[in-house]
Amino acid sequence: MKSEKILLLGSCGQIGVELTLALRAQYGNDAVIATDIKEEHPLLKGSGPFYQVDVMDINAVLALVKKESITQIYLLAALLSATGEKMPLKAWDINMTSLLQILELSVQEKIAKVYWPSSIAVFGSTTPKQATPQKTIVEPETVYGISKYAGENWCQYYAKRYGLDVRSIRYPGLISWKSLPGGGTTDYAVDIYLQALAQKKYTCFLSEHTYLPMMYMDDAIRATIELMEAPAAQLTTRLAYNIAAMSFSPKEIAASIQQHIPDFTIDYAPDFRQQIADGWPQSIDDSLAQKDWNWKAAFDLEKMTATMLENLSK
Ligand code: SER
Repeated sequence: MKSEKILLLGSCGQIGVELTLALRAQYGNDAVIATDIKEEHPLLKGSGPFYQVDVMDINAVLALVKKESITQIYLLAALLSATGEKMPLKAWDINMTSLLQILELSVQEKIAKVYWPSSIAVFGSTTPKQATPQKTIVEPETVYGISKYAGENWCQYYAKRYGLDVRSIRYPGLISWKSLPGGGTTDYAVDIYLQALAQKKYTCFLSEHTYLPMMYMDDAIRATIELMEAPAAQLTTRLAYNIAAMSFSPKEIAASIQQHIPDFTIDYAPDFRQQIADGWPQSIDDSLAQKDWNWKAAFDLEKMTATMLENLSK
């Protein structure tokens, strides 16, 4: 066991639950302090320390950092793309204030490593849509995307100006069965499995040929831990890394479900989230992550569908 003490802020969200459990398996249960504004997620209960803390209450966070002698912080709390478009100023405030406060606290308290997630939402309709490069035109069009790209730049600023070891990934849409997403544009790719099992039909809020970059949660968690454990000297960017696993449309994920549930049907009723999706890339070039820290995804659509249906039907 390594002598790290890790603080997770937002540990009851879609990424947080699985990342908390994975870090506990790796570093020991008591080495990972989970926190969230919400009550403890059922899957975390009994697995290690949990505190109910609002990430915006920086004094409460600071008290916990001191009390627990924290050496690493993962800041996962955020409002996602669809929620952000409903309340732009609130999304900006939560996403940015939380990050700036944690970056500042981390310098002051000499935190060894910080993790903060970015997203494919940093890209906009002026970005090349296929195999979107690491370095390209970045003109985000949602509040969420603007906050993520501003945040990436703040991370880079703190790394260069103060030597803070802060690391980040631009996640694609994430698909998981242990903890559910909320407020995102890619959430349909989780809902579709739940509805396929419950009702054998699904009405999708994106149109049938809307391709988006996606990833199974196991890959996203492994990517996060691999990036955080990579030697700092190997990291050639302090903006967030592109990572990729698969790209599919609603029609294609529906077809992969029909391999298991032949009478499953899908129809389409695009809403405001269509416009968000239309501004994002369809596939991502992650060659820099491959080169810098050996990133490689393990799940494709077929393997993910089999895993999702098997676990959700239990
Ligand atoms: N999954 C996120 C969303 O749809 C993208 O980072 O908002």
